[in-house]
Amino acid sequence: MPKIELKNLTKSYDGEVDVLKSIDLTMEDGEFTVLVGPSGCGKSTTLRLLAGLEDATSGSISVNGDDITTRAPKDRGMAMVFQNYALYPHMSVAENIGFSLKVAKTPKDEIESRVAAVADMLEIGELLDRRPKDLSGGQRQRVAIGRAVVKDSDIFLFDEPLSNLDAALRGGMRVELSLLHQRLKKNMVYVTHDQVEAMTLGDKIIIMHDGIIQQAGTPEEIFERPSNKFVAGFIGNPTMNFLPAEIIEENGTRYASGANFMIALEGNSGNVGQKIDLGIRPEDITFDESGDLNITVIVSEYIGNQKNIIADLGGEKLTIVTGADTHVDVGATYRIKVNAAKLHLFDGDSGVVV
Ligand SMILES: Nc1ncnc2c1ncn2[C@@H]1O[C@H](COP(=O)(O)OP(=O)(O)O)[C@@H](O)[C@H]1O
Ligand SMILES: [Mg+2]
Repeated sequence: MPKIELKNLTKSYDGEVDVLKSIDLTMEDGEFTVLVGPSGCGKSTTLRLLAGLEDATSGSISVNGDDITTRAPKDRGMAMVFQNYALYPHMSVAENIGFSLKVAKTPKDEIESRVAAVADMLEIGELLDRRPKDLSGGQRQRVAIGRAVVKDSDIFLFDEPLSNLDAALRGGMRVELSLLHQRLKKNMVYVTHDQVEAMTLGDKIIIMHDGIIQQAGTPEEIFERPSNKFVAGFIGNPTMNFLPAEIIEENGTRYASGANFMIALEGNSGNVGQKIDLGIRPEDITFDESGDLNITVIVSEYIGNQKNIIADLGGEKLTIVTGADTHVDVGATYRIKVNAAKLHLFDGDSGVVV
């Protein structure tokens, strides 16, 4: 039995189109699940339905096989960390973390020991007497997480908890969250618009767009075998190249034939004559004298550990990732090779992988 199961979950607001369109989703026990997608795709709505902060228009939510679709939020055994976590400004760190236990009339010494244990785990033990205004952004974030963790819930929900932090702090907190998950071994459902957070944190990633789940899978599955052009373009940095082409066959070999290029295909997916978008990841292209494609370099971006080369391939822009020590001249022409085993073919109309 899956730990959490969403079935045909739909949400619409009065007179509006559906915000969530029949979501089906299962999460296994202890799994770290990340919902990722662009702003407005329905991530927070999904999380709020799970927490019981919004009512589903139709469909069901179950946990451990029990239908909790209409259960009150406090009876769902879930703790939530919001993007705009408001700490109580007049309370100390310890009082903030222990507040929900106090409301639940937990004995004072038990509150103290649980707050101390959580603060220890989050490495904020020496800050317990401070007020929120005397903390850095990262420290405040830890307190907000501590407030959720202290409740000993079965399921943790996070809605973009790191988006108010600067990049360096986000990286550090990402590692902390992975460690927290390793220690607690509880289900975590984490919402973000950031593909790096999704790839690094998730056991399973759910990619959403327009209120629909586009693909669910491990980070490797999503990256290696995107099921449509949206997913392919959303995951990966620099983004995948898409070249409009047609599948043709000559002397028993299939090619993707574009305005000014022919690229040999492996395998027999798709139909001869089919219009496609040929997907090529920038790291699957190499500069190679023996290659049969010519490109002209437009821009060369040195970013320390690699170079991103933007090139022109017969009128189409192409991004290529090379080693940092590869030298190319802007305006010069070079031969390249693409890794035929790593090509992605998407139907030109539907965007679905072929
Ligand atoms: N209370 C509401 N009334 C009407 N529309 C809403 C309401 N809350 C959210 N929406 C709409 O639902 C869509 C999904 O919102 P949300 O789940 O917050 O997206 P995300 O978290 O992925 O950015 C958006 O188009 C948003 O405008
Ligand atoms: Mg949101």
